[in-house]
Order: sequence, then structure tokens, then C-alpha cells
Amino acid sequence: MKIARFSRIGFILAAAGSAVGLGNIWKFPYMTGENGGGAFVLIYLLTITVIGLSLFIAEVLLGKAARNDSVTTFETLAPKNGHLWKYAGFIIFAGTLILSFYLIVIGWIIKYVYISATSLPTAVKEAGATFGGMVTTDVVGQFIFFNVAFFITIFIVTRGIKQGIEKVNLILMPLLIIILLALFFYATTLSGFSQALSFLFVPDWSKVTNTTVLQAVGHAFFTLSLGMGTIMAYSASLSNDTNIVRASISVAVIDTAIALIAGIVIFSFIFTGGAEAAGGPGLVFISLPPIFAEFGSLGNLFSVAFFVALGFAGITSAVSLIEPTVLYMTNRFNLSRARSLVYLGGVTYVLGTMALLSNIEEYKSYVTFGGKGFFDILDFTSSSIMLPFGGIIIAVFVGHVLQRERVYSLLKEYMSDRVFALWYFTIKYIIPIAVSAVMINKIFF
Ligand code: PHE
Repeated sequence: MKIARFSRIGFILAAAGSAVGLGNIWKFPYMTGENGGGAFVLIYLLTITVIGLSLFIAEVLLGKAARNDSVTTFETLAPKNGHLWKYAGFIIFAGTLILSFYLIVIGWIIKYVYISATSLPTAVKEAGATFGGMVTTDVVGQFIFFNVAFFITIFIVTRGIKQGIEKVNLILMPLLIIILLALFFYATTLSGFSQALSFLFVPDWSKVTNTTVLQAVGHAFFTLSLGMGTIMAYSASLSNDTNIVRASISVAVIDTAIALIAGIVIFSFIFTGGAEAAGGPGLVFISLPPIFAEFGSLGNLFSVAFFVALGFAGITSAVSLIEPTVLYMTNRFNLSRARSLVYLGGVTYVLGTMALLSNIEEYKSYVTFGGKGFFDILDFTSSSIMLPFGGIIIAVFVGHVLQRERVYSLLKEYMSDRVFALWYFTIKYIIPIAVSAVMINKIFF
């Protein structure tokens, strides 16, 4: 099978486009806010450095070695029992679950571009009512914007890796970084800036429970797009001259930097405005607009820029949530991209609608299971269970199933023997043991 190739910078941009998403700007700040700040950030940073980066390299390596869809990748690379290992490739379906709630949030963002341009709420209370009203009562509005997000994403994916994904990332990623940096420099002048720094970087261990740890670890996977074959799928299109280790480090650094910058910006605004750090999923939607509003029409402009950038970040990730499954379907079932997208889109549509209704007062009870709304179930199951689990599978496969020699030959150009030994040890022992321990601890205790 012939797979299109990225340009060298195209891969880094696409992988960074996938990694940098709502996870960085919407989820990271609100999870940090809910989990008490610094300690959560520290566990998250530690996981990214030790586990995330190593696993990222492992996924790139699998993608590059097989240059195929994830199911075929596991099947053909396994020295024996390929017919069983191919099922490991099904980790890609976590993407469909994530996409279903992800598109709802992108829908909110699109709505907020409109709100930003027309009438920003001027006080936090009013902003809370605007956001809460939208999420819990506005079925039709949310549904329309969910559809807009849905069709934009599907459209880009139909165009394929080069014409669709690479092009979009090439334009949107730099734009996002510029907007965020502008906001950051502004934030440094605010009175809440130093409080934001200490909230984010001074750990308060009394707030840490096993759920905090699981969420921080799960979020490290989520934010780097790990554990579900996205990076593997993109790496199938790597150009041969890419230094895979350097590319992986670049993506991890960009992703982490953007999350931290977003966190600093958002908490500076929040503390300056006297709003609540533990604002939940509404954090960016409730705390930022009133602060933008203080700046009159300039504030409208700032707010539009912010939400447009956030929307862009979301779209480039949404695309990467669906690409691995499209690759699998076009490859194994000989379907066209369009037809694969019809099937996948159908599933996403149903799950997304259920998740949307689970936030609506009137319909909530129909889509709540075991006391948890379907939206939260999708989020928790995919990010805190499926991605870490996918990560364990990948680590076991690379560390225990593939021959060490084979792995070494794929990496030796890019790392010294010392670094390789360290990386290999992390993949073979640290990741499977540490990640299982975190998951078991959460499930049983
Ligand atoms: N990394 C993306 C984000 O931070 C989400 C994502 C997860 C994308 C898994 C692809 C795969 O928003």
C-alpha cells in the first residue's frame, strides 16, 4: 500500500497540531484548577518527561517501521502471534469516543467566537449564566455548532494527509502560537500574574489523592495524543530523513510549553478578576470573557482571537483523532476515505448527541449511567482508562515482543547507546509497571 508522505516540517507540525488541542487550553487549566494547582502540574510534568516522551518515541518507531494502519502494524511487526497482536491495533477506537465529546467542546468554542464578536458578558456571574445556560438548556444551538465542528473536521480528513492535514496545520499552528504569546505578554502586566505562577508551580500535596494521580497521568497521555495510535498513524507518513527523536522532543516541548502558557494566561486573568480557580469545564468560557469585556471593543477583538485560536487547536486535534481509524478502514477494507468517514461519522454523531443531551437538564436522566453523565463517562473512560491502557500495550509490545536488536537498529542513528539503554528500560519496565500501578490503585482503592 502506498501512503502519502509528510514533508519534514510537515510531520512535526501535524504531530504538534494533534498534541496541542483542547487538552492544553481547555482541559489542562480546568483540571489543574480542580486538583489544587502545583502538585497536579508537577505529576503531569513528571509523567510527560519520563513516560510520555519515551512512549512518543515508541509510537513513532512503530509507525515508521511498518508504515501502515495500527492493526496491520501490530500484526506484521510481531515476530510471532501476529494474528493475536493485531487486536492491539484496536486502541484506535478510543479516538472515536474522544472525538464525540471533543466536537461538542469545539462547538461551544465556535459559539463563543460569535459571542465574543457581539456581546461579551461583563461580570463573572453573568458569564457563568451564559455558559451554564448554553450547556444545560440550549439543545438546538449546541447541536448546530456540534454539526459545524463535525463537518469541518470530516471535510479536512477527506482531503487526506498532505492536502488536508498538513496544509491546515501549516497555517493554523503558527497563528495559535502568536495569539497565545500576545495574551501571555499582556498577562505579565496583570496583578494576578504572580499568584497564577505560585498556584501553578508551588505544589500543595494535601490536595493529592489517587484520582489526582490517575488524572494527571491520563492527561499526560491525552495531551500528547498517546496510547491510541494517532502518533503511529502520522508516523506512517514520516519522511525518511526525519530525526525521530529530535522530532518527538520538539513536539513534547511545544505541547508542554503551550499548556503552561495557557495555564499562566488563564489563571492570571482569573486571579486578577477574583474568579474561582476550580471553575470546572466552564473555566475558559466563564472567567475570560468578562475580563476581555473590560477592554471595550479591543476586548472583543482579543476574545475573538482567543476563541478562534482555541478552535483551530481543537480542529487540528480532532482531525488526528479520526485519521488512525480512517487509515485502518481504507487499508483493511478497501473503503474510500469518504465512505470510511460516513461510518465513523455516524458513530461519532450518535455518541456525540448522547453526550450533548447528558448535559441538558431535561434529558439528562436518560443518558446518565451509574450517577455519571454520558459526556463525563466518555471523557473519563477514554482519557483515564483507554489511553493509559493503550500506552501499556505499546510499551509491552516494543519492550517485550519486538526483538531488542530490531528496536535498536531503528533508533541507533538518533541516540547514543547510553540513552538507548535508559529509554529501553523505561519502555520495558517503568511504563508497564508505573502506569498499571496508578490504574490499579485507582480502581481498587
Ligand atoms: N492531544 C489532544 C489535546 O490535547 C487530544 C488528542 C488525544 C488528540 C488523543 C489525538 C489523540 O487536545
